Amino acid sequence: MPDFKTVFWSFLVGGTVLGGLSAHAARAADVDQDVMNRGAYLATAADCVACHTKQGGTPFAGGLKIATPMGDIISTNITPDADHGIGKYSEHDFEQALRRGKRRDGENLYPVMPYVSYAGMTDQDIHALYVWFMHGVKPVAETPPATQLSFPSNIRLTLSGWNMLAGSEKQETGDSATYDTLRRGKYLATALEHCGTCHTPRNVMLMEKSDQYLAGSPLAGWYAPNITPSRTGGIGDWSEDDIVQYLRTGRVKGKSQAAGPMGEAVEHSTSHLTDADLHALAAFIRQVKPMEDDADHQPRDGFGKANDIPDIRSGELTRIDNLSHKSPANLFDANCAACHGQNGAGTVDQYAPSLYKNSAVGAGRPDNLIMTILMGVNRTTADGHASMPAFGSTGDVQRLDDEEVASLVNYVSKTFGNGSYNVTADQVAQVRKNNTPH
Ligand code: HEC
Ligand code: HEC
Ligand code: HEC
Repeated sequence: MPDFKTVFWSFLVGGTVLGGLSAHAARAADVDQDVMNRGAYLATAADCVACHTKQGGTPFAGGLKIATPMGDIISTNITPDADHGIGKYSEHDFEQALRRGKRRDGENLYPVMPYVSYAGMTDQDIHALYVWFMHGVKPVAETPPATQLSFPSNIRLTLSGWNMLAGSEKQETGDSATYDTLRRGKYLATALEHCGTCHTPRNVMLMEKSDQYLAGSPLAGWYAPNITPSRTGGIGDWSEDDIVQYLRTGRVKGKSQAAGPMGEAVEHSTSHLTDADLHALAAFIRQVKPMEDDADHQPRDGFGKANDIPDIRSGELTRIDNLSHKSPANLFDANCAACHGQNGAGTVDQYAPSLYKNSAVGAGRPDNLIMTILMGVNRTTADGHASMPAFGSTGDVQRLDDEEVASLVNYVSKTFGNGSYNVTADQVAQVRKNNTPH
């Protein structure tokens, strides 16, 4: 008869992407199932799979190329294979990698591995993670290609200086499952989900600026926006339930959708958190220090209204193969209107969302609008599959050139959004070259 705690953690893990892996684990009769389930949930909350799995690869076998300002860093195999993975890591080695960024051979890990955040984890949670990685993950005999950086970034020793300067999360104590709401929310946001890894701006040495927590930061072509409770620059107009819904499903009608890296974080991590944990996270986010934003002086999701945008054109859709003159309105009709409506209102059920009252369109910077057009949206949760085709070089429906994308971005922003910028074809070309597969 399992004790109450076992039932609790198994409930948490039920239905997660990682859940299927515990079948392998269940055979290891000598390991405590309670600890295993806790470890699996923590691995989901800390989203280890996001970086340690390449496109189409086996979970945790590594090989994902992560673009950073230092160069491309390739994630390693963290399955328990003794020769190719971390099978030889003792619990102490594992703890040092997670909290201090030290590899088993004593070398420094590149800080893409978010040890600055994981430093906040409790001993009990590190233990549960270790047990799960050793017994719940299938060993994979594959060594990903090594990271090749150029001088001086290739000297791992120089990271010791970095580590001394970069502040890391303070280690938490006790049983993290028993924390009160705000302490649990902070623990989830900082030590596990590492929201700040993407949303907090960095200084010239690529360290998170702790005095601007969650104030917004560029991210490989995308922009992880200001999510502090500022009413003008952040998400101060979102309720706790809005944040919970966004993290669970990746969408809040009339506000925002999650594409790119946030779509992945929702799909692999936040959509699997319990209700109580989502509410704790949201409650914590809503009380961090509000920060103003250089680009946004009005809520990003506050532009436009359903009924004040007249449908000014004839209503006749331009055929994709008949773009004799590529006016922005024609481009929009031909490529976007079928789903988002000629007046931008989206489909009735909002499966294709309205383009007004939409944070990607209302933002004072074009990053997420450009990337959405180039890369599309592809996010699966228990809520369904959100899918918008890519119009960039990998698109299989319609490929748009840099001029066309720039023209569409400016049109969409001016018609439905903030309209404060003017994007050039050269800017789109840069984004396409640096941040999309081609
Ligand atoms: C944001 C991306 C990212 C996330 C999330 C992440 N890692 Fe890593 N991790 C990396 C990269 C990249 C490396 C290799 C760094 C290097 O070569 O210096 C690495 C290295 C490691 C290593 C050292 C392995 C070795 O010998 O090379 C361990 C152990 C590890 N990660 C465990 C984890 C665990 C457990 C989690 C979840 C709690 C996790 N990582 C989450 C990016 C990430
Ligand atoms: C891997 C990077 C990454 C991580 C980790 C991440 N985010 Fe995001 N987040 C983004 C990006 C990029 C966007 C913009 C997505 C878009 O517009 O499609 C975003 C958008 C959002 C938005 C919508 C804001 C708006 O105005 O539309 C919220 C809310 C949010 N994130 C909250 C969080 C929270 C809370 C966490 C931690 C649990 C988190 N994010 C972790 C990258 C990340
Ligand atoms: C086949 C239908 C379809 C077409 C065509 C389409 N979209 Fe979308 N669009 C969607 C869906 C579905 C979503 C995602 C909804 C979700 O995330 O839940 C979306 C999301 C978006 C978003 C929000 C993305 C974010 O990160 O917040 C923007 C902006 C957008 N589309 C603009 C466009 C533009 C501009 C075009 C024309 C170039 C276009 N769409 C063409 C269906 C479509």
